[in-house]
This record gives sequence, structure tokens and C-alpha cells, in this order.
Amino acid sequence: MKTPLLALETSCDETAVAIWDDERGILASEISSQIPEHRPYGGVVPELASRNHVVRVRPLIESALEKAGMRLGDIGAFAATAGPGLASSLLIGNTVAKSLALAEKKPFIAVNHLEGHLLSPFLEDREVPPHVALVVSGGHTMLVKVNDVGDYQLLGRTLDDAAGEAFDKVGKMLGLPYPGGPEIEKVTKDGDATAFDFPRSMLDSGDFRFSFSGLKTSVLYTVEDLDQEKRNDWLADICASFQEAVVEVLMEKTFRAARKQDCKIIGVSGGVSCNGRLRDAFENGARRRGVEVRFAERALTTDNAAMIAFTAAKKLAAGETSPLAADVNPNLPLVSA
Ligand code: KG4
Ligand code: ZN
Repeated sequence: MKTPLLALETSCDETAVAIWDDERGILASEISSQIPEHRPYGGVVPELASRNHVVRVRPLIESALEKAGMRLGDIGAFAATAGPGLASSLLIGNTVAKSLALAEKKPFIAVNHLEGHLLSPFLEDREVPPHVALVVSGGHTMLVKVNDVGDYQLLGRTLDDAAGEAFDKVGKMLGLPYPGGPEIEKVTKDGDATAFDFPRSMLDSGDFRFSFSGLKTSVLYTVEDLDQEKRNDWLADICASFQEAVVEVLMEKTFRAARKQDCKIIGVSGGVSCNGRLRDAFENGARRRGVEVRFAERALTTDNAAMIAFTAAKKLAAGETSPLAADVNPNLPLVSA
């Protein structure tokens, strides 16, 4: 019995700590967002992110332990995200988790951030069925066939921008605050998704690869031709039409992948899966096609440590631990080539 397990997530600009217990599930999930610190720069500033992780990580561990009603000595294993992400940010969570493991003489488990996202829709149930997974975050967009925990087959990924990156870049282009994804979604509430006919890149490519940079450029050219004085008249329509183009491609390709793999369960994870229009579209599409679509609860779609703790617990249960000398890897792949 190695749980309760304490996990740290510091791969980008969120400092997060969670405690998982094999019998009771998530006992604490603390997240400290750095969005206000990075907003003035329009994106994540790596040095600022790592310095903030240093300042925040200890109080966050203390508050997670308090919420779980535990002391450090009660923890049976320590985990941290080892990649992909910003090297200087990954190092903070890794070094803290390894130091705690060393001091407490407990195992350390390195977790792949993408695996954390991918398993997050199944955290409540704890069982991970074979399924087709769409991971849509700020850094990644990929379709994966999940045969079992740790047994993944990459079906396709984006050739250029990730879907979340496209949301963020379009948001910036439109003068919306960072991060663009949630800001665009807010604006779409009053928009007409059919007002602008943006490209659905690679929709009919016959494979499971994506491309979002052409869509982003198309929004740029469209906006440049519009009357900037009348921004309030077209902003919601641009945002809604852009969002629809992203959602349609993600949805179509995911359902096609599920059909090709003869899979009746789809898992959708990553920050973009917080998007209400995406969730509605997938749920309606799933109903029509007689498949089941699973999402993580909204708070666990963007970066969090609960998904890292859950993934670490699965590895631990399979007898997998990591050496304290293991390095972080900013480009850690989910599936080795
Ligand atoms: O998973 P995540 O927190 O970080 C990465 O691992 O990249 O995802 C962050 C991304 C950002 O690009 C953000 O704009 C996007 O998720 N995002 C959204 C929404 N909420 C977050 N995109 C569209 N609609 C949203 N509601
Ligand atoms: Zn993430």
C-alpha cells in the first residue's frame, strides 16, 4: 500500500498539488493559477513561471495536506510531471517531489503531462476502458488509441499549431486578454457561428492529422478587411465562426477515428475540452452515432495535479517507480517513435 500519494504539476504556468488515495480517490486538489502574472505579456514568460512555482509550491503542499487531514509523514509516494512542458518550470515540481521522496524515504514517480490529461476523463470512475482519446490543450492536439493504461497508439497529431494555441493566437489578434480560449468562448455567446466561412483544414485528408495555422491566418486576413471602427458589430461573429471551425474538425476526425478503430468510447481532455460548444457538439454527435463521450469535470480539464496523481497511482499499482536521477524532458512524447 503506497498511497496516499502526493503529486505536483508545474509544467507551465499553473502550480498544482493533489493528494490521491486508492480507496477514497482525490482528497485534495490545489491549483494556483499565474494567469494574472503573465497576462501583461500576452503569454507565458518561462522565468516568471518558474520563479512563481518556487514561491507557491510549499504553501500549496501545506494547504493540500491540511485539506486531506494529513501530515507529510502519512504520504506513501511522491509524483511530479516530468514533461512535456517548460524545462525551468518542470524542474521545480520535480526537484521538490524528489527531495520529499528522498527525505521521507518514499518512492518517486515521474508522470507524462499528456498521459495525465488523457486519463483525466476516467478519474471519477478509476477504470480506464479501451477508447479513442482526443487530447486538445495549449501545446498539443492528438488522437490516440488507448488499449490500456500505458498502452497507447498515436493515430495523428497537429502538423502546426495546437487547437488551444490557435485559440490563444486568435484571441491575441483580436485584442482579447490572455489566454484567448476562455475569452473567445465568452464573446461567442452573442455570435453567429455561420457569419464567416472559415476553412476546415485537413477535414478530408483521409488521416487523423490536424492543421490550425491556415485557419488562424484566414481569421487574420478577414479581420484586416473589416471596419475596425465597427469591431463591436463583428467581434462575436468572428469568434463564434472561428470556434465552430475548430470544433467541427476536432469532432469529425475524432468520430471517424472511433469508427475506424471500432471503438464505442471516446475520451476528450486538455484545456480546450473546457469549451462549452465543444462539449455540446461532441455530446450531440455521440448521441447520434451511438457512442459514449467522456470528459473530465471542467475544473480538471486545464492543468491540475489531480490528473497527475491519478496517473501516478496507476503506475504505482503496476509497480512502476522512477529513479531520483531521472531528468525532466520538455519534449517528452506520449508514445515513443
Ligand atoms: O491543458 P492546458 O491547461 O495546458 C496545456 O497543457 O497546454 O490548456 C490550456 C489551453 C489554452 O490554450 C487555453 O486557451 C485553452 O486551453 N482553453 C480553452 C478554454 N479554456 C482553456 N479553449 C477554448 N475554450 C475554453 N473555454
Ligand atoms: Zn496541460
